[in-house]
Amino acid sequence: MDKQFKRTLVTSALPYANGPVHIGHLAGVYVPADIYVRYLRLKKQEVLFIGGSDEHGVPVTIRARKEGITVQDVVDRYHYLIKDSFEKFGISFDIYSRTTSKTHHKFASDFFRKLYDEGKFVEQTSEQFYDEETHEFLTDRNIRGECPRCHALGAYGDQCEKCGATLSPDELINPYNAVNGNPLVKKSTKHWYLPLDQHEEWLRKWILDDHKEWRSNVYGQCKSWLDGGLKPRAVTRDLDWGIPVPVEGAEGKVLYVWFDAPIGYISNTKELCDANPEQYGTWQKWWQDDDTRMIHFIGKDNIVFHCIVFPAMLKAHGDYILPDNVPSNEFLNLEGDKISTSRNWAVWLNEYLEDMPGKQDVLRYVLTANAPETKDNDFTWKDYQARNNNELVAIFGNFINRAMKLTEKYFGGKVPACGELTDYDKSTLNEFKTVKEDVESLLDNFKFRDAQKQAMELARIGNKYLAETEPWKLFKTDEGRVATILNLALQISANLAIAFEPFLPFSAAKLRTMLGMESFEWDNLGRTDLLAEGHQLGESVLLFEKIEDDVIQKQLDRLERIKAENDKKALEEAEQNYKAKPVGELCTIDDFAKLDIRTATVTACEKVKKSDKLLKFTLDDGSGTPRTILSGIQAWYNPEDLIGKQVLFIANLAPRVMKGIESQGMILSAENFDGSISVTTVEHPVKPGSQVK
Ligand code: 2FM
Ligand code: ZN
Repeated sequence: MDKQFKRTLVTSALPYANGPVHIGHLAGVYVPADIYVRYLRLKKQEVLFIGGSDEHGVPVTIRARKEGITVQDVVDRYHYLIKDSFEKFGISFDIYSRTTSKTHHKFASDFFRKLYDEGKFVEQTSEQFYDEETHEFLTDRNIRGECPRCHALGAYGDQCEKCGATLSPDELINPYNAVNGNPLVKKSTKHWYLPLDQHEEWLRKWILDDHKEWRSNVYGQCKSWLDGGLKPRAVTRDLDWGIPVPVEGAEGKVLYVWFDAPIGYISNTKELCDANPEQYGTWQKWWQDDDTRMIHFIGKDNIVFHCIVFPAMLKAHGDYILPDNVPSNEFLNLEGDKISTSRNWAVWLNEYLEDMPGKQDVLRYVLTANAPETKDNDFTWKDYQARNNNELVAIFGNFINRAMKLTEKYFGGKVPACGELTDYDKSTLNEFKTVKEDVESLLDNFKFRDAQKQAMELARIGNKYLAETEPWKLFKTDEGRVATILNLALQISANLAIAFEPFLPFSAAKLRTMLGMESFEWDNLGRTDLLAEGHQLGESVLLFEKIEDDVIQKQLDRLERIKAENDKKALEEAEQNYKAKPVGELCTIDDFAKLDIRTATVTACEKVKKSDKLLKFTLDDGSGTPRTILSGIQAWYNPEDLIGKQVLFIANLAPRVMKGIESQGMILSAENFDGSISVTTVEHPVKPGSQVK
């Protein structure tokens, strides 16, 4: 039987304070965490929700250098911006602090020192990439080079953004300093490592045997790390921004950001508890008591740190509880492309709040409806509009509006008496009574997407009920029946206010005010006596508004502009980074002589039917018989523009049939740095059939 816990500690990944937060953050971590916490609070459970900004690490230093400001300026700017966005989206943290706080610096430093004193680290000197001009060791993120997998230029030392491969700097081809382009040398440096290999055995049992219930994406990723064999991981870095390593002789070194950031969950809890001991108790109660259940909400790139590295740190320290679950999401894409801070391919929350005032719940709804719980998912503005107009407005809003307006019209806004129930009334009630159990069990299992869908069923049931009973047609003939129908509709509305509080807190609050509900708790779900007969309803307001096409088009136009800017930048970068490919294997003059390269004049050129690549050339090759050659260059030429040009072709290449046409040779073309094609030609006109030597 599952252990009964007394309280739940919910943590959500600390976002890097190197830029604003976007819809990917919200969908992946903060909305699900917030739904969960609000649900537990509605169930009157003891719960703490910890958040904060991750202000160390390389990304913030890169941003500072780019903008020519101090790192402190960067983290100050983004910490407050992020905090404000979360607040405005109703993410109900008990504390949102930061890893540059004094409390955190001391806590993380002491944590390291304890492990150090107890010999829980291993010291290793290794060769790291070093810039001799700036005299600095470079971190993975500050090293760029050619990706060994897809050969994209400018891949990072830890990851290739083009193909998504996880890399180590040693794997990069021609590594260079990302900031100044300097080539790098290897130099030895000492660091402290957490010997994960020594933790492998218990981690294996704890995750693979004892936590089979974890989401398959989380469990699978852990299993593959464990099966690959754990290696010691450096927990210090050569960097001038972060928490100094509290060891003599470690000047110029700081704690690795992934060592200090998760400790931020603990230090933020401490900060909160120390300031409000009566309300929250001690921080130890939340972190060192077996009756506390800890849940980490994170994105998939954080799985290894929360399921393997942080638990190993906690275990090495001793005294701490370990997470009970780590419901990690996959990634959310935007209009088919990976969200990227550096490419500005995102819907930033601060901008959304300006562009779509008062529509926080709409975004929360859409992100949960499309939550990337088991696989990557896509956010599109068209889907956003459709879900708002067809679900929130047409179903939820419409139902509430009708129930309120009809009660106002027929009963002066007072809850009418419920008379005798018909069979149809009873079957409607039966349908909605199961919603509580269904939503509850889905939420308990972190299935937020299905839970919201199920909650929406209530609105569908209500909408259908009013559509089928048509009370507006009955008032003149049967006022009592209308009273019963509206009484039930209002009870369903009250249920909706409770069920949607975790998902759409702003709309639920409005609805609660409209209905004048006093008591508000999860356990009331499913009841049909939430609003007493004669109870005066508040003023009716619209919960949701239709979103018109022009509003959506504006957003699409913005993305279109960003795409064009990115394409331009990528082209400029590719041109700058262009290097001619190394010369291939040597061949002899006899090898070359085997190729019969000649000139020909293009007499006709057209697109090949049913092909978006091929052009069909008709050539005068001097033989008196027209020659046909197919070439895959449709994307770069208008066929008519090629007529009359003299081109070079291989005359003795064995013929090949493509799309039912025989191609008798090959036209020679050059491929430019950006992949575009340019056909080769001769400098002075020559007789068709002249040989190229
Ligand atoms: O991936 C990130 O954005 C990290 N800053 C998350 C850190 S989570 C925790 F360890 F603080
Ligand atoms: Zn790659």
